[in-house]
Amino acid sequence: MRSKSVFIVFEGIDGTGKTEALSKLIPHLVTRHKEFSSIVLTKEPTCGSTGNKIRKLHRADIKDPELFFRLFCLDRSEHIERTIKPALKTNSLIISDRYAYSTLAYQSVQGIPKKTLQHYSFLKPNLVILFDAPAKTVMKRIYRRKKAPEVFEHTRFLENARQEFLKIAKKTKKPRFVVIDASKNRKTVALSVQKAVEKFLFDSSRNRF
Ligand code: TYD
Repeated sequence: MRSKSVFIVFEGIDGTGKTEALSKLIPHLVTRHKEFSSIVLTKEPTCGSTGNKIRKLHRADIKDPELFFRLFCLDRSEHIERTIKPALKTNSLIISDRYAYSTLAYQSVQGIPKKTLQHYSFLKPNLVILFDAPAKTVMKRIYRRKKAPEVFEHTRFLENARQEFLKIAKKTKKPRFVVIDASKNRKTVALSVQKAVEKFLFDSSRNRF
């Protein structure tokens, strides 16, 4: 029997509210979508050893684009083999907070050549929800959180990463990208995300993996 799994990713620069929108969406999906045997919530960098290493290097303020590119790709291949592929076999709805488009956007701004990034291949998701907001807006939110800003959280860097994400969304035919205006209030953002996911699940219900 063919699996009816769906793989969705949430992307966007830091501070756009992906994680919060995800936490609001999950209870809704759990109640509404009994057709899935499970709803798998996952993230990148992962909580495995490579993901933890990445977080440690970020905290130490290490700046080595090549090293980060290699580590993000390694973390992703482990993520795909250990979490995503097994879940795809079991009629699951998998949602990842960040995925390969973060590498294409962030590592491009860090200076990894476009050619290298163009050759980077990965398992394609079915849908990408792109949280979009100006870097100035997200920086205000980041400072309000009072935590020390992470290594990538600087306005110019984030605005460049945002523009990369928008370019990717514009030129990618498959998977479908839905761009959400993440500068709106939390309730509006959560509702837009819910609508986009519901629309996709409805449209694709007869034609899955
Ligand atoms: P983040 O989503 O903040 O994860 P956590 O809360 O666990 O630290 O991601 C950490 C940073 O890593 C964020 O600034 C984006 C960056 N990043 C990349 O540069 N490339 C990637 O491929 C990924 C997945 C993340």
